[in-house]
Amino acid sequence: MGFPAQRPRRLRRTGAIRALVRETSLSAGDLIHPMFVRPGRRVRQEISSMPGQFNLSVDEAVADAQEARSLGVPAVILFGIPPSKDAKASGAWDAHGVVQEATAAIRKDVEGMLVIADVCLCEYTDHGHCGVVQGDEILNDPTLELLAKTAVSQARAGADIVAPSDMMDGRVAAIRKGLDAAGFDQVPILSYAAKYASAFYGPFREAAQSTPKFGDRRSHQMDPANVREALKEVRLDIEEGADMVMVKPALPYLDVIHRVRRSVDVPVAAYHVSGEYAMLVAAAQNGWIDRERAVLESLVAIRRAGADLIVTYFAKETARLLAR
Ligand code: PBG
Repeated sequence: MGFPAQRPRRLRRTGAIRALVRETSLSAGDLIHPMFVRPGRRVRQEISSMPGQFNLSVDEAVADAQEARSLGVPAVILFGIPPSKDAKASGAWDAHGVVQEATAAIRKDVEGMLVIADVCLCEYTDHGHCGVVQGDEILNDPTLELLAKTAVSQARAGADIVAPSDMMDGRVAAIRKGLDAAGFDQVPILSYAAKYASAFYGPFREAAQSTPKFGDRRSHQMDPANVREALKEVRLDIEEGADMVMVKPALPYLDVIHRVRRSVDVPVAAYHVSGEYAMLVAAAQNGWIDRERAVLESLVAIRRAGADLIVTYFAKETARLLAR
């Protein structure tokens, strides 16, 4: 039954046939648009290591979210750059913090847009770590209370979904308990369940000004060499009440996305991170790759690996490309 009876090229001859037999779809509806919100008005500051991405004041964030929505992108995920930082990350759980204000404004002004609030302390601590620090140690359990407080204040501001990215043990349970006690039992948790200690977060740390002042994140983020451990993290988070799970980064971890997709029955998201964005943009700027094709190929590969949803800085651009 081989050649010449089998000629796989028959199904590749025209665009119409290729589209008919295509196994994986990519649409604007699968994408989540990340935004960095800072204080002020009319501020639109380009991030130097992420050309085309900006730090935005709340008014500009609303306009940006409006644009994403009109392109068919269903959700944004918000990160905050507070006016000041301290050891307790007060800006993370401030009722009038940047993310809280942006959440309320987007919910009010952008019809149908889902707001996901990233829950972490690293953008709000003066030392840049994801938790309460003692000496050179990041303390797990004292951090949980602050994370829960942060998630509750975000829900109070109107967040549709909260997304803990800190990688402390037990944070999903702590956040679920906090949300339920405050009357937010309907707010889902998207947990960054398998988040690796990755070099690809470099540009994000410039954008969020969250580079740790000392040490690194390897005591809580995962070792890139591990995949069994990712399945364990995912299982624990679901047991603690995660409604959706995320793998991060995306392209260097397609096997992890695939394994997670096969092992759970909740929606799986993947985060196509800042360094992945920066690499593509830089190569395209040099004329070394075709930007549009490389973007679409990357995102379809992440979908093919098993991600239902993709957080990507290319969300708006991709929505535009797909609409052509
Ligand atoms: C916060 C957080 C990070 C990212 C998302 N949430 C940075 C980090 O862990 O240092 C990275 C996202 C990206 O690189 O695009 N902890």
